[in-house]
Amino acid sequence: MIRHNSFRRTIRRSALTSCLFASLLLSPSLGQDVFPSPTVWASQAPPAVQRSFPKEDPFLLELLAKMTWKEKCGQLTQYAGELTGPQPIKAELFERISTGEIGSVLSVSGAARCRKMQDEAMKSRLKIPLLFAFDVIHGYRTVFPIPISEAASFDPDLAYRAARISATEAASAGINWTFAPMVDLARDPRWGRVIEGAGEDPFLGSVFARARVKGFQGESLESWNTLAACAKHLAGYGAAQGGRDYDTSEISEMTLREAYLPPFEAAMEAGVATVMPSFQETAGRPSHASTFLLNQLLRQEWGFPGVVVSDYGAIEELLNHRIAEGRQEAGALALAATVDIDMMSDIYRTLPLDAETEKAVDQAVLRVLALKKSLGLFDDPYRYLDEAREKSEVLNPKFRAAARRAAARGCVLLENRDSLLPLDLTRVKRVAVIGPLASDTRSALGEWNLVGRVEDTISPLEGLRDNFEARGMEVVHAQGCPSWQTDSSKIQEAIDLAQSSDLVILVLGEPYDVTGESRNRTQLGLPGSQLELLQRVAATGTKTVTVLANGRPLTLGEVSAASPTLLLLWHAGVESGNALFDVIVGDTPIGGKLPMTFPRSVGQVPLYYNHKNSGRPPVEGQEKYRIAYHDSPLTPLYPFGYGLTTSTFELSKPVVVSPPKTWPIVIEGRLTNSGEREADEVPQLYLTDEVRSVTPPVKELKGFQRFTLAPGESVNYRFELSKEDLSFIGLDFERVFEAGWFAVAVGTDSRAEPTFRMRVDSTGLVGLSRPSSDSSEG
Ligand code: NOJ
Repeated sequence: MIRHNSFRRTIRRSALTSCLFASLLLSPSLGQDVFPSPTVWASQAPPAVQRSFPKEDPFLLELLAKMTWKEKCGQLTQYAGELTGPQPIKAELFERISTGEIGSVLSVSGAARCRKMQDEAMKSRLKIPLLFAFDVIHGYRTVFPIPISEAASFDPDLAYRAARISATEAASAGINWTFAPMVDLARDPRWGRVIEGAGEDPFLGSVFARARVKGFQGESLESWNTLAACAKHLAGYGAAQGGRDYDTSEISEMTLREAYLPPFEAAMEAGVATVMPSFQETAGRPSHASTFLLNQLLRQEWGFPGVVVSDYGAIEELLNHRIAEGRQEAGALALAATVDIDMMSDIYRTLPLDAETEKAVDQAVLRVLALKKSLGLFDDPYRYLDEAREKSEVLNPKFRAAARRAAARGCVLLENRDSLLPLDLTRVKRVAVIGPLASDTRSALGEWNLVGRVEDTISPLEGLRDNFEARGMEVVHAQGCPSWQTDSSKIQEAIDLAQSSDLVILVLGEPYDVTGESRNRTQLGLPGSQLELLQRVAATGTKTVTVLANGRPLTLGEVSAASPTLLLLWHAGVESGNALFDVIVGDTPIGGKLPMTFPRSVGQVPLYYNHKNSGRPPVEGQEKYRIAYHDSPLTPLYPFGYGLTTSTFELSKPVVVSPPKTWPIVIEGRLTNSGEREADEVPQLYLTDEVRSVTPPVKELKGFQRFTLAPGESVNYRFELSKEDLSFIGLDFERVFEAGWFAVAVGTDSRAEPTFRMRVDSTGLVGLSRPSSDSSEG
């Protein structure tokens, strides 16, 4: 297993771990007192999720023996109570539940509503309880920031806690299964679904996959406050050509295994209960019929015993992919690939009843029944259906406090050229909050939430107004322009306000409905007239904090030029406005880092930090016959891992502190807050494997730790590298270790330069040297 250094804190801190873990949900000020907290839990063996292999479970075998063909197909059929895709909802849903023809429903929530449906299931001949599945993507009613913002926190403990809270809320509303986390790697910001993942890096993605799975599933799926998680979408979905959701991915098996699969493997290690294949095709095979991805990789190589659920209508879509002539053939292909549950195609009931099909159906049914058993549903089908509990848990104030903290910790400071942040409030009397995203409460909530409510949500304008007014300041507001359309007719009104104020907070970005599923963009600048608004506000000379509320990396060259102070808020959930206030006044230090590269232009896409060196790597000043653009620098505007702090930090050079010829290799250094205020910084460890049999990435993130330090405070950062951390996917697609030189860099973003090289063989460290002058060509 690759171990994640982000979870390794100094030994002094790790002793606290187990009791902290147990008390997370009991803490009265959940989310406040435990930040930052030790997270050794994530490096321990995952809790055994109860997924006993069906063949060995007499109860399930007995039940299977009693089932008719229709009832078996019913267990493999999932239907919706609300639309999240193109298929219509059928009126006879209730009736089919009571006849055992539907085994799970999606997008139904609320204890009372779910109870009504479970009552129907209890009328069925064998009384097999229903599963209630739901897209709990970034919260239930307490909507957390979009997942990419959570990843920007570089704080997996936060993601763990957000998932724990979301599971608690959703489970109290009757749900027992979430279609999350999405662990798709994303190197293309045009793709709308980048909001749902952890960005471009396999290591970061793996850390967050593990934290989120454990957060949703807790210690035992039987607990009322846990959900079965679902690692989705297997695989390569984020590599859709042109960033067009659902379109074909062209990925070599090497890239798939090196980059796209590690987060799925991390989800496996964490004991994820279910998996969803991806809509698109790779190498001539749609994932829902991919014997390579599902039979070979998932079931055989990874030994996944859990449930595979199709994506929405995706089995029927095998017809559009043109690999099946009719619905029955499409169903047979998906079943043969071990897709256990058919979401919304209603195809499995058309399967032919022959010996081979029945064998495959039986296996699938056993897996579904095993999931139901692991959730405790056979002991009590109403386990999750407690209206009183729902009342007390949903939108619980302590959950909101955690959402506020999460939103603040996901913020990334892109520019602070005048050191305006954190704000010195003594000089401010009147604040103009301007911009189309300021009062856009719906966009603050972000895409992909089915029960989040605008009325629960504090927009940037509301949060700033309430908090500034509480401190005796005046707040004025103008929208300036719409968020999407081009219309500059109201910009002057905003300029007038800017001119008559001491400070402008300009909230720009993307509306929520151009992000998320099927919402792809070809232009990544600020839409409509927003850039004009920004430039005209900047020209007033009034001090301005430009805040970006968006869901993907944008091309920000002109925005950055006009914004000495530029803060990335993202779509930050129900507590958006309060969190924004917290960070701009310094109540919560800004310390997020970019989990995805921000390119200069769309033409550079895909652009990611861990690319290959090539035979003709770039050399400054030598554009011809080298990798280069004639009309643009190669470098991004803001690289992966980038984010400023509001203090100054000294990061000492890393040194190896472990003895030679032992594992792990321990690398330490010191981080000191040399500034005058409490602030956050995130030392990041990047390794370069200098020579190996498969071309290595120019560098790879192998560890990170986020610290909050008081002025003058120092801390030891510490990274441990196992032999596996230095291994890679070999030419035969097995993980291999090769002895050789590794360049080591610790810095505060992915531009970190190596400060030493280490020679490593299978016994551990066997030599050290200075970095070679040009490691990119090493
Ligand atoms: C389609 C999406 O691709 C998937 O992620 C989601 O879970 C399902 N719809 C169900 O809503």
